[in-house]
Amino acid sequence: MSVSPSLLEVAGLTVRFGGLVALDGVDVVVAEGETVGVIGPNGSGKTTFFNALTGLLVPAAGEIVFLGRRLAGLEAHAIARLGIARTFQASRLCLALSVFDNILIGMHAGRRTGVVDFVVRRGRFLGEMRTAIERVSHLLALFNGDLPRRGFERVGQLPQIDRRRVEICRALAAEPKLLLLDEPSAGMNPEETAELMRDLQIVREEMPGLSVIIIEHDMFVIEGVSQRVVAFNYGRKIAEGSFAEIAGHEEVREAYLGKEAARA
Ligand SMILES: Nc1ncnc2c1ncn2[C@@H]1O[C@H](COP(=O)(O)OP(=O)(O)O)[C@@H](O)[C@H]1O
Ligand SMILES: [Mg+2]
Repeated sequence: MSVSPSLLEVAGLTVRFGGLVALDGVDVVVAEGETVGVIGPNGSGKTTFFNALTGLLVPAAGEIVFLGRRLAGLEAHAIARLGIARTFQASRLCLALSVFDNILIGMHAGRRTGVVDFVVRRGRFLGEMRTAIERVSHLLALFNGDLPRRGFERVGQLPQIDRRRVEICRALAAEPKLLLLDEPSAGMNPEETAELMRDLQIVREEMPGLSVIIIEHDMFVIEGVSQRVVAFNYGRKIAEGSFAEIAGHEEVREAYLGKEAARA
């Protein structure tokens, strides 16, 4: 049992797309500073879970409580401002824009500052931008010493691992309390995946209070970074526990390997 206060409490979360139940009564609690891994076969509802948490879709039932506050009815930008940030399964970086521009656009998207707002509060806004760039440069440097120097280069010129780093930094720029990572190792080779794991370790050391939920197919990553693992299948949470508990769980093994292989 966790002694830290829980940051996020999800209860009975249900999402339907027409007749399809993509999430079916899911309960998940995340404590402050905790990293929770989410696994499950394709189509089991993992990304839908993130979409519900970030206000991109409206759940059919259930409750999401973040920092003691119910998120029902809040729009995505309001939820982002409360402190939930994410990366997407498919990169949403603008390859033609610079590293810093991508990071600033990401911050701005969570703020919804209008033109009038921007003019009236320009001083404060620019100050916040400067602080964010400094903070992000520090983090980029920890990931890869060359990256801050390449902040004005187009993201399209960076290798895959550095693009992923920029995405993570973009999510962290607004100082979220909860970071959602949707399959960060997708498309990476084993060396890049190992680097990604080291990056996530750095994030943990730099931001010990940050909570993380990471969706991953790579069990090596899940084992390396998560303190607790939740397994989904057909929209239901079928298991929860330590990596060792999950890896030995029969229904999880069946979901991944098929019934026959799981018994072998
Ligand atoms: N916007 C949508 N409209 C209709 N069906 C969707 C939508 N998003 C996801 N689904 C369906 O919901 C199920 C869960 O999808 P998803 O959460 O993306 O799975 P995962 O991320 O675990 O691979 C799948 O059957 C998928 O086809
Ligand atoms: Mg997905």
